[in-house]
Amino acid sequence: CGICGVVGHRPATPVVFEGLRRLEYRGYDSAGIATLNEGRIERRRAAGKLDNLAAVLETQPLYGTTGIGHTRWATHGAPTENNAHPHGTSRVAIVHNGIIENFEALRSELEAAGQVFETETDSETIAQMVDFYLAAGQSPRAAAFATLRRLEGAYAVAMIFAGYEGLMIGARHGAPLAAGFGDGEMFLGSDSLALAPLTRRIAYLDDGDCVVITPEKAEFFDRNGEPVERAIQTTALIAGAVGKDGYRHYMEKELHEHPLVIGQTLQRMIDPATRKVVLPDMPCDLATIPRGVITACGSAYFAGMVGRYWLEEIARLPIDIDVASELRYRNPPLTPGSLGMLISQSGETADTLAALRALKGIGLPVLSVLNAEHSTMARESDVVLGTVAGPEISVASTKAFTAQLTVMACLTIAIARARGTIDAAREDELVTALLDLPGRAEEVFSRQADIRKMAEVVAEARDVLYLGRGSVYPVAMEGALKLKEISYIHAEAYAAGEMKHGPISLIDRTVPIVATIPSGALFEKTLSNLQEAKARGGRLLAFTDEAGAGRLSAIAEQTIALPKVHPFVTPIIQTIGVQILAYETALLKGTDVDQPRNLAKSVTVE
Ligand code: G6P
Repeated sequence: CGICGVVGHRPATPVVFEGLRRLEYRGYDSAGIATLNEGRIERRRAAGKLDNLAAVLETQPLYGTTGIGHTRWATHGAPTENNAHPHGTSRVAIVHNGIIENFEALRSELEAAGQVFETETDSETIAQMVDFYLAAGQSPRAAAFATLRRLEGAYAVAMIFAGYEGLMIGARHGAPLAAGFGDGEMFLGSDSLALAPLTRRIAYLDDGDCVVITPEKAEFFDRNGEPVERAIQTTALIAGAVGKDGYRHYMEKELHEHPLVIGQTLQRMIDPATRKVVLPDMPCDLATIPRGVITACGSAYFAGMVGRYWLEEIARLPIDIDVASELRYRNPPLTPGSLGMLISQSGETADTLAALRALKGIGLPVLSVLNAEHSTMARESDVVLGTVAGPEISVASTKAFTAQLTVMACLTIAIARARGTIDAAREDELVTALLDLPGRAEEVFSRQADIRKMAEVVAEARDVLYLGRGSVYPVAMEGALKLKEISYIHAEAYAAGEMKHGPISLIDRTVPIVATIPSGALFEKTLSNLQEAKARGGRLLAFTDEAGAGRLSAIAEQTIALPKVHPFVTPIIQTIGVQILAYETALLKGTDVDQPRNLAKSVTVE
């Protein structure tokens, strides 16, 4: 969900609405805006897409130069108009991201004091509490501060107050919020993307901060209410960078950016003069760390799984890996001195952030692989390796994922060198394989028409089985996840050798099998597994490479021969293939590719 707010001199509604449009990618199921019209709070809300809100605004416009808006992804209470934000009373309107954990206790207390609630949401509690303090004669600033002190849980919040044109108060605790500096106007947004066309001068609130905004200035206060300075940064985002550039969907555009972002990420990690991977100063000695622990959510977790194959095989570093939502509560007995490694596109995913804090809490150094360089995880990590993927708008991750793989590959080389598990010749071989990638990634798109034919089979299915072995097993998992996310077809990924222990019973003509099977050491093994499936009437759809295509076309119904690359980097090339398959399938199904139902780009709740 997203927040956008403005105080200034021009009509607020179009500015806020445009900001919400740019936050659509975060996923939402209702939206709303509130403004001050001659000092009175007015609001419009709608369930569903922003177009519904636009229709409401068309017939019932909202006037005024102070406004806040919100796209909501339902947690407490259904995605109805009544539960949509802004929430409020005649005195205050608020928008909120996150969850107020103690809202039931606060609500009982406020109801006992005479406040009348309109919704079941946790967010309304914030508005009712501010209202209560305002009614008792407190100033907006005092009422807001008093309320914030009582809240437990995670939130980013923005508030406006009846009778106070040009005043907006924001606060963050566990969910991101940024203040944007304009010319005679100021903004609040849940990320810099919301504010990109309005200003590039942005100050991020620290956790626990509160900000009081007027058209001329922003005053920041820390968690103790003490005035603090927060640095203004100039963001690199330019408005043009977030258009679709003639592609049908952001996802299609972002798929085509694979070669570019792999190249940009390599430029960041490899010194062109020495052809060596260069890491920033590390919080530990890579030569002597006993183990590594990797954690992430969603696609980023699969990037971590590929990283495990690489780090164990090439750098001989034992790896523990778990999804962040499990790791954070599992209290595992991690080896002291291990290196914690997190992977996240947004740098804000609540579970990954909590896992970061848990790892730091037990004293482990934490390295994060992040796309959002100003994110909370970036600030809290000991060292950050940036994926140079640029803004990723489509909810389903594509280019950020291959950029994550690129960073994990470089990290593997650096750790292997430090531990003496590769010599200079092998290091050069691996670096060469990486530097070869952008060009080879580009070639994948010449197979798009063949992948589209494969999609025609997949689009007819209700269930699809993905198989892979070794470092392309996580690629099969990524392929299955992508298909589920955007085409709503059930898909399951299995390690190819494990198929005979269960999923083989599912195989018939109606359950196609998508295999990631590049040539190399495990080719024959996977091929045997596919033959077992074929013998039971399975329809085989294979992603291989130019060296494996001959053998496969004998048994597979369709074979995609992706460019033949060094075995080290095959997961990256194979990923592009399975992601295009998901995209083409979703096109055939006619789904909302960029904003699949129920999903959010950045999940800042537990
Ligand atoms: C959401 C997105 C996924 C993403 C995951 C982790 O579920 O829909 O595409 O992989 O979050 O996000 P992160 O920003 O931490 O990489």
